[in-house]
Amino acid sequence: MKGKLKYEGKGKALYTTETDGELIQVFKDDATAFDGKKHDVIAEKGELNCAISSWFFEKLQEAGINTHYVKREGSVEMRIKELEMMPVEVVVRNVAAGSICRRLGLEEGMVLERPLTELFYKDDALGDPMINTEHCELFGWAKADDIRAMRQLARDVNRILSDLLENVGIRLIDFKLEFGLLDGEIVLGDEVTPDGCRLWDIETGRKLDKDVFRQDLGGLSEVYHEVANRLGINI
Ligand code: TMP
Ligand code: ASP
Repeated sequence: MKGKLKYEGKGKALYTTETDGELIQVFKDDATAFDGKKHDVIAEKGELNCAISSWFFEKLQEAGINTHYVKREGSVEMRIKELEMMPVEVVVRNVAAGSICRRLGLEEGMVLERPLTELFYKDDALGDPMINTEHCELFGWAKADDIRAMRQLARDVNRILSDLLENVGIRLIDFKLEFGLLDGEIVLGDEVTPDGCRLWDIETGRKLDKDVFRQDLGGLSEVYHEVANRLGINI
């Protein structure tokens, strides 16, 4: 049962539950980009993201990744374990796209020789600046050992997700993860959805993720439906 609102972000809200240590994560229909500067409400997006994220978390747990996921509880509601979240975003890149192209002058679509992990400080007002392990330690955002564990987990997640998506003709270009601590252990939190990934059709290169919204390339719910359908996820 959903209790009191505990936290509201741009795309999700968290509610208390009858059980200590468990929360309900509600996926909203809001779509934002560029640190919230672009905003729209897209019918069915919450439901699509809840279904896709639940499916990915189940696959990741089956593969031995420790996540906050407990179960899907409703069309837009997911029961999760409460974590002590770190304000750090871990990005894994297989192919150059987005901010790395702007920062380093790379051409979009350049295949990286091996997966690259990057860290960003989660702060919209600052535009989520790129940081390194020393920043995390110095400012108390995360310990060096925890960062090492997060990078390793992110690489493991990359392998698992890349395989699942490749099976349905989708290339995982990059994605963002957020982690938290539970009883001293690093646990994958937040969401795994096309909002936080770049997904390109392997055959055509067509974008099947939030870049469709960022770059006004067409209907967002249509492409999210396509991702769900290809993976065999029932909405
Ligand atoms: P970037 O190219 O903008 O750095 O984004 C890399 C990946 O991380 C991309 O798949 C989008 C995702 N991402 C988020 O989900 N939230 C964010 O706040 C940022 C900056 C990136
Ligand atoms: N997630 C961030 C925002 O909603 C950045 C992005 O996705 O472009 O503003």
